[in-house]
Amino acid sequence: MDLFTPLTLGTLALRNRIVMAPMTRSRAGTDGLPTGIMVDYYRQRASAGLIISEGIAPSADGLGYCRTPGIYNQAQIDAWRSIIDAVHSEGGCMVAQIMHVGRVANALNKPAGSRTVAPSALRARGEMYTDQQGMLPFEQPLELPLEEIPRVIQEYRIATENSFAAGFDGVELHCTSGYLPAQFLCSGTNKRTDGYGGSAANRARFALDVLAAMASVDGAGRVGMRICPDNPFNDIQDDDPQRTFEYLLGEAGKLDLAYLHVMRYPKGRVDNVALGRRFFGDRLIGNESYILDEAQQAVAAGKLTAVSFGRNFIANPDLVERWQDGLELATFDLATLYTPGAEGYSSYPRARA
Ligand SMILES: Cc1cc2nc3c(=O)[nH]c(=O)nc-3n(C[C@H](O)[C@H](O)[C@H](O)COP(=O)(O)O)c2cc1C
Repeated sequence: MDLFTPLTLGTLALRNRIVMAPMTRSRAGTDGLPTGIMVDYYRQRASAGLIISEGIAPSADGLGYCRTPGIYNQAQIDAWRSIIDAVHSEGGCMVAQIMHVGRVANALNKPAGSRTVAPSALRARGEMYTDQQGMLPFEQPLELPLEEIPRVIQEYRIATENSFAAGFDGVELHCTSGYLPAQFLCSGTNKRTDGYGGSAANRARFALDVLAAMASVDGAGRVGMRICPDNPFNDIQDDDPQRTFEYLLGEAGKLDLAYLHVMRYPKGRVDNVALGRRFFGDRLIGNESYILDEAQQAVAAGKLTAVSFGRNFIANPDLVERWQDGLELATFDLATLYTPGAEGYSSYPRARA
């Protein structure tokens, strides 16, 4: 068994175990609309066993970064359909990463009338880029009233329905990196005194309710989850991440999800991969700074079921072929990582014509 061995995860059929990790590339249009160059970009990378899309907002409130896509209206669904059709026409498999940023936002990056919401009215320290004014502080969020939480959970269900209507093979809950589910999970960002705050069980309730809502659409076999316990990204911290994530995974493990996607770094107080293996050992996608040899060994030894690669896919649309045939990898240009247009995005050539 190695990275080139086909694999079934829930209802997802992967032709190899080289997964493209989710990467926000800021190539969408205004109001979260996917663009034509996104069709080219994803089509070029369809030989991955599975493509996990960039983070996609389930609602206008869920947008926070400039030029990022949504999946909450018909125009967006139609635009995504062109992307999925292109990936499928190349024999690929693709899931939508559903990402609600919560408080990690600036109003200039969001459609008019949308709000910035969080479990508690605590502003994240730090800044984010806006096209209009460069770097600006994160927005002060509104605390979600208890009676509004079911509506936010339903946004994830509708985003899942919309993803399937567009043709995505599955959906992944983005449950790390300081975004909304992580804001609920972690004690530093969740000061609620109702059923969604306090104990680990209460803080995990939001993510578990969301997973159940996503699984209600067409079964848990089309739903995955991404975690990185003790990841401080976007000003997030938890008093006891081991306990929080043990609880979350213990409950999520009962749902028969397609997979768990675990980032091993930054290394905090938790051994993320070991924790993931305890609950999802037979369907665990590992990530973060893997190179080919190490990934091959982890899969051969049964430590991981598959491995996802982010940065390696940026300048190597044909990463699978390059590794299969021992070809050299290209390096990407940092300057065009998030800039508009095809340059440094869909412009990277294959090794062989
Ligand atoms: C440009 C860029 C954008 C990213 N955007 C996302 C994202 O939208 N969602 C997410 O879960 N991770 C995101 N990540 C993290 C990657 O999925 C991945 O965890 C990271 O690149 C480490 O994997 P690698 O060492 O194979 O690159 C992003 C990473 C990069 C480099």
